[in-house]
This record gives sequence, C-alpha cells and structure tokens, in this order.
Amino acid sequence: MKLFLDTASVTEIRTMWELGILDGVTTNPSLVAKEGRRFEEVLREICAVGVPSVSAEVVGTAADQMIVEGRHLRGIHPSIYVKCPMTPDGLKATKVLAAEGTRVNMTLVFSANQALLAAKVGAAYVSPFIGRLDDQSEDGMELVREIVTIYRNYHVKTEILVASVRHPVHVLEAAKLGADIATMPFAVMDKLVHHPLTDIGLARFLKDWEKVPKA
Ligand code: G3P
Repeated sequence: MKLFLDTASVTEIRTMWELGILDGVTTNPSLVAKEGRRFEEVLREICAVGVPSVSAEVVGTAADQMIVEGRHLRGIHPSIYVKCPMTPDGLKATKVLAAEGTRVNMTLVFSANQALLAAKVGAAYVSPFIGRLDDQSEDGMELVREIVTIYRNYHVKTEILVASVRHPVHVLEAAKLGADIATMPFAVMDKLVHHPLTDIGLARFLKDWEKVPKA
C-alpha cells in the first residue's frame, strides 16, 4: 500500500521523504490555509521535493471553473493530481479532465455508489473520508471494504485512496482490505515508524555492547 502525507507542510513532507517511506502528498484548501502562504508557491515547493504524486484541489464549484483550474494546476508540475469534489459538477469536470489525460482525485466521497461514479468518469483516485464517517457514528472502514469489493468485481483501475485517516489502526485496516493508498497526517505516519519495544530493545543492545571486549 502506498503511504501519502495529508499536509501542505513542506517541512513535514521533506522529513518523511528523507526516510524513504513517502509515496505521495494530498493537500486540501484547509491544509493550505494552515500554512499561511500562497497556494501555488507551496505547491511548487512540495513538487520540488520529488514526491511522485501531489494532489491539489480546485475551489471552483461549477464544472467549467473546475476544468479551467484543473488544467492550470496540471500545468504546474507533472506530479500533480487534480482534486475535484464529488458533486454533479465535479463529475462533469472529472470526465473532461480525465479524457484530456489529467489524473483526477475525486474527493469528499462518503458512499460506495459515489465511488462507483468516480470510476465511471475516469478518476485516477477515489478518496473515501473514513474519519469523518466515524465521527458521525458510521463505519468508515466498512465503506472502504465496499469500494474494494465493487472495484474488484469490475476490474476498476481507479485507485482507492483512504483519506481522513486519524490513527495507525485506520492504516492497518486499510492495508488489510487491500486499499491502494492511505493518506494521513504527519503525526499518524510518525506513529507507524515508532514502537516502544524498538527503543527499549536498541537501548539494551547498546548497553550490552559496552560489555564486549573491544581489543
Ligand atoms: O485531505 C482530505 C482528508 O484526509 C481530510 O481529513 O481529518 O480533515 O477529516 P480530515
């Protein structure tokens, strides 16, 4: 499973990129706003890190606006995937952009039927928001399970990008279901790296090593 960071922080992206575990980045308007910098400037810096997949979201709500924005975003860097919302206009825009060769990430997906539609219009990624469903007392991971089943039934090429990930168990469950990608905040990815027994074990090895005769 590919691991993406859900952030617009170049520092966070560089940190995980240097570990060699990062496959991509997803941004959204809320994450970009947190950086307090111009969108395109941040986007160019993220792409310059070298991450092969960087999702950038349109903010227009009409299909023609999304198409214009999508074409512009795609032109910024070859790594860019254009994020369009799962709305009627988002579907129309995705159909046009995908036909032109733009890779579209359909976002704000909350049902398996919406995921079916995203595939139909040629989205490269579909982004079910599992944490926000959990927040509503619905089972976000059940949605991933449904999408995996449906996409397998029809040999759909659209990749399932599990979004709104809140903790490491979400990542683990997504991987067990065979999702293609999980995107997560820096804090969650950092928790994947660490285990207290690793730290305790290393400290013990290094302490014992001091007892080994050195010459
Ligand atoms: O980037 C989209 C998604 O991952 C947002 O997550 O935590 O705001 O529900 P969250």
